[in-house]
Amino acid sequence: MRDAVVPPDAIRTDRLELRPLGARDRDELLAYRSDPETCRFLPFAPQTAEDIDRYLATRAARRHLGETDSSLSFGVRLVGGGPLVGDVIVFVRSRVDECLELGWVLSPEHRGAGYATEAAAALLRFAFDTVGAHRVVARMDPANDASAKVAARLGLRREALLVEAERVKGEWRDTLYFAILEREWRAIPR
Ligand SMILES: CC(C)(COP(=O)(O)OP(=O)(O)OC[C@H]1O[C@@H](n2cnc3c(N)ncnc32)[C@H](O)[C@@H]1OP(=O)(O)O)[C@@H](O)C(=O)NCCC(=O)NCCS
Repeated sequence: MRDAVVPPDAIRTDRLELRPLGARDRDELLAYRSDPETCRFLPFAPQTAEDIDRYLATRAARRHLGETDSSLSFGVRLVGGGPLVGDVIVFVRSRVDECLELGWVLSPEHRGAGYATEAAAALLRFAFDTVGAHRVVARMDPANDASAKVAARLGLRREALLVEAERVKGEWRDTLYFAILEREWRAIPR
């Protein structure tokens, strides 16, 4: 796995542009990250403007991927400077094991069009081709069917159900793991 990968200015797909999150995304991020339904399965409560500002100033401000727990956060827009449809993140889950983790959130009005899968597929390519990951995982609440479908569409294998392994917003929750190895991803016909 490569050291200190700096994010590209943009990752483009057929319909989307992924760019490192920044101040220009603030109000649109707040619009959906303050929504209780959107946050139901996320590890945080509905966010305030202060939460968004803190996120933009801390984790989302990180600009390289290298050590364990480093991450890159991208805002996802329709090509040509359209609205922010959501945001995606790639973490280094374990540097020594060359394992990365992906996360995805869409604003409610942009669901059901394949944008999460399309953005995450681009991030998966980035994880294997640019970062050089050995394995990529996605973790979710087992009740989060929409997220499990994204992982399955990307080709990730439903791999494990960890029972009450995490305390999320004060409650013990089960965690469903999906994963794909680099060699498995390269073998997917495209
Ligand atoms: C998880 C989440 C991102 C999934 O969003 P989504 O819109 O269902 O997923 P996609 O953007 O990949 O869209 C897929 C759907 O669009 C449909 N679709 C419509 N047009 C499409 C197109 N042109 N191309 C691809 N899919 C299309 C697909 O059939 C699929 O519908 P289905 O799931 O009913 O079969 C969304 O529910 C969300 O943001 N939830 C809240 C945050 C969250 O829980 N995040 C995950 C934490 S682990």
